[in-house]
Amino acid sequence: MQFSTTTSAPARSRTGCALVPVLDGKLCGSTAQAIDEANDGRLTRLLKSGDLKKKAGSTLSTHLDGAIARVVLASFGEGKQASEKDWLDAVRAAYKAASAFSADDALSLLHDVPVAERDLAWKLRVQALAGRDVAYRFEQMKSEREPKPARPKRVTIALERAGAGPLARELERARAIANGVDLAKDLGNLPANVCTPTYLADTARKLAREFDLKCEVLDERQMQALKMGALLAVARGSAQPPKLIVLRYQGAGARRAPIVLVGKGITFDTGGISLKPAPEMDEMKFDMCGAASVLGTMRAVAEAKAKVNLVVIVPTTENMPGGRATKPGDIVTTMSGKTVEILNTDAEGRLILCDALEYAKRFSPAAVVDVATLTGACVIALGHHHSGLFSPSDELAAELQAAGREVADTCWRMPLDDVYQEQLKSPFADVANIGGRPAGSITAACFLARFTKDYTWAHLDIAGTAWRSGTNKGASGRPVPLLTRFVFARADAA
Ligand code: BES
Ligand code: MN
Ligand code: ZN
Repeated sequence: MQFSTTTSAPARSRTGCALVPVLDGKLCGSTAQAIDEANDGRLTRLLKSGDLKKKAGSTLSTHLDGAIARVVLASFGEGKQASEKDWLDAVRAAYKAASAFSADDALSLLHDVPVAERDLAWKLRVQALAGRDVAYRFEQMKSEREPKPARPKRVTIALERAGAGPLARELERARAIANGVDLAKDLGNLPANVCTPTYLADTARKLAREFDLKCEVLDERQMQALKMGALLAVARGSAQPPKLIVLRYQGAGARRAPIVLVGKGITFDTGGISLKPAPEMDEMKFDMCGAASVLGTMRAVAEAKAKVNLVVIVPTTENMPGGRATKPGDIVTTMSGKTVEILNTDAEGRLILCDALEYAKRFSPAAVVDVATLTGACVIALGHHHSGLFSPSDELAAELQAAGREVADTCWRMPLDDVYQEQLKSPFADVANIGGRPAGSITAACFLARFTKDYTWAHLDIAGTAWRSGTNKGASGRPVPLLTRFVFARADAA
């Protein structure tokens, strides 16, 4: 699905399908009215029929017989402007309705609906991301692949006046982000017997070839040489060899400090000896969505040729039980030298991350952001709307929050003060890997905080946002939009 803009009189132009907004039961915007007039008031008559509900996300589709072959009328709710949620619901519904038609191209007027505190650039960017999100299919593992491509293939955004230059750039960046999102979704959706640590490493190598990146993949022996005792402890139970993937993109001068993104890459989390219960365990194939998101972000940033330096680090392994597996009570020495008492082998994400975060030091980073499906507790705290954001830095936290809002991929800041560190005390080692039930997502972040004192750092817990469960099960590609926008903003600011 390709997006472009036009400023020529859209009411007369030919198109397979027009996406027309309806606000408060009335056509919204002068272009919608012009299309109505060019079709002898057909749209107004359709609205009078009462078949389109006022509730945001309701749609009514029909054929016309003029230059515009079909129309999707999309309700944005009541009032003079749409709320952000209503606007997103309506845009997604409009693209879903359009995909039911066989039209190759569409003309969109959906951005003519005002949204509180959101400008045109936001509406184009978010519309392009939503359109691509709705169009996404994962059919690699089906023997009979749906032959038909996602429709519409081309979407033209009808703008009332010129000024399309910066908006075209906005759409170009949105396409790069959407390609990154698709990569993250594909990796997340692949089953764990295909998407192994080796598969992730091969994917990184392929990205490096396509986008001219530097790629390094460390194996078990190299991890041993670096004394990555925590990462190796998680890998012990698995027959799959662990990897530490490092991808580097240089879009700015070599002396500019890079942004470093670290993604949790547990390709399957059984819990290890602290075995998880059986129901829904299949969803633990998504436990590498942090890794997928940083690889997707790398793809987006490199494709957009952003003027910034970016390093992506992915510690990746399975977490399995087995005769050689780490046991509750085992004590390991991390790359930093700190010792960890592993009281629960299911708290493995923080173990692979602490060694990767120690490794990140060598890049003298401007900022480090780690991304992980880290805790069930974060899902309890925030549900499936916002990712959890933890950072000792108010500036970095504000940057990430703003980036999220600009692409409708939001995060919510959680506390991280030292009072919670108490819960991680161990009688035998420097730190325990669990802090009990209270504030589970915070104590997990506190564990990571102990390894990130030497640079500016933030942690995103995406346990509730990285995938959807139920009948619509699948990876969301989040937080690729947030991360990419954050990197773009840093590139633009420099
Ligand atoms: N990958 C899980 C977290 C998770 C669980 C994400 C369910 C999404 C849905 C993580 O490795 C884990 O098992 N965390 C434990 C930590 C606990 C043992 C302290 C958890 O959240 O239960
Ligand atoms: Mn776990
Ligand atoms: Zn996990």
